[in-house]
Amino acid sequence: MSEEQSITYIAKPGGHLTGHIRVPGDKSISHRSIMLGSLSEGCMTITGFLQGEDSLATLRAFRAMGVQITGPDEQGKVIIDGVGMYGLKAPDGPLDLGNSGTSMRLLTGLLAAQGFDLTLSGDHSLSSRPMKRVTDPVVQMGAHIETNKDGTAPLIIHSNNESQLQAINYTLPMASAQVKSCVLLAGLYAQGQTCVTEPAPTRDHTERMLQGFGYDIKVDELDEQRRQICLQGGGKLTACDIDVPSDISSAAFFMVGASISEDSDITLKHVGINPTRIGVINILQQMGADISLSNEQEVGGEPVADIRIRYAKLKGIHIPEDQVPLAIDEFPAISIAAACADGQTILTGAEELRVKESDRIQAMVDGMKILGIDCEGTKDGMIINGGEFSSGTVDGLGDHRIAMSFAMAALKAKGPVTIKDCANVNTSFPDFIGLAQSCGLQVNSKADV
Ligand code: S3P
Repeated sequence: MSEEQSITYIAKPGGHLTGHIRVPGDKSISHRSIMLGSLSEGCMTITGFLQGEDSLATLRAFRAMGVQITGPDEQGKVIIDGVGMYGLKAPDGPLDLGNSGTSMRLLTGLLAAQGFDLTLSGDHSLSSRPMKRVTDPVVQMGAHIETNKDGTAPLIIHSNNESQLQAINYTLPMASAQVKSCVLLAGLYAQGQTCVTEPAPTRDHTERMLQGFGYDIKVDELDEQRRQICLQGGGKLTACDIDVPSDISSAAFFMVGASISEDSDITLKHVGINPTRIGVINILQQMGADISLSNEQEVGGEPVADIRIRYAKLKGIHIPEDQVPLAIDEFPAISIAAACADGQTILTGAEELRVKESDRIQAMVDGMKILGIDCEGTKDGMIINGGEFSSGTVDGLGDHRIAMSFAMAALKAKGPVTIKDCANVNTSFPDFIGLAQSCGLQVNSKADV
């Protein structure tokens, strides 16, 4: 997407959210379905694929490595002719992964043992995010990877066909599904058994999907928090169709919007409710939100449900730290809920927010202060005192989740909220404006010239 074209959102104050809507497909599952589908043997179909710039960056990368991928069509149907574990071809130039951290981090593992050199590059935000967390373990496994001297992209991955990777027993230094997935994907190509231990549960789509593609993996609960995931290198993936549920991270904006605006009653259909992703539901419920689930079912190895949210009076809480990795992408939205709650909300143990698409602690605190909220950032979180949003102009900082969160704040603001630098909403939520308008948010976008 063009970073040059700057988009501003203007959200009118007031209103409420009603109706039944389906938010776009899950970003994490969409990325992984392209990766595993491409490496599998046979032809597979994805339905509900997220047509956002991030997952499209992954799709384009595999096309550039010779995989035949048809679609996505209007319904998000994608057909992949898998090339098998060793069928990828050298791309003509660098793989440009745009704004997508998941693409870069997972591909670092997956591409560390190919028989060709390649470069992974990204936009300004992605090029400033830490990549040592993925290159370190993969280099320990025997990969040859160059980064900038501060450990950032572009990443140059050198051909590794003569010396196969060696398995590793790796303890994650932080609770990161991206790092876990990177090591497991490299482990597919390694000699021996690769094991990853996570300090706290993180999203487990990679493990579920590897099993769905017929790969044997072993998961052990070491204690209440720590899990160890092991797999043996040298196996194969067998094509399997994927039905991508709606993304709970995209649903989160509407959960918060409906919770804070009186008379709201909205149902979000077919949303993924994987237990490693439902921190936002648990946290909002602890704050007093009125959230109920129906139509619970399992689709392709992932639990899904319809989620109904009605307005409720919220109260401030100290967010339990064990919920942080389970809601890691939802804190921009949750902080809007906290700003509308009675009393104080304290977030701790969330230092990872400082290295997302933007420094999300700083971004939210700066924006909420402009809108009249008494809040402060801490090293690893935020302290937010509930109040009332005034009117003002905030910076979306090219971070999709910051932009959409502030759009929801307008539901409870005294005047219009203008949000700058919103073009990257397209990375995860194409037509956010259209869907949000259809259920009551009075928001418009304009391209800046
Ligand atoms: C993701 C994992 C999370 C999340 C990101 C997607 C994934 O990152 O923030 O949006 O698909 O594995 P970390 O694992 O680094 O926390």
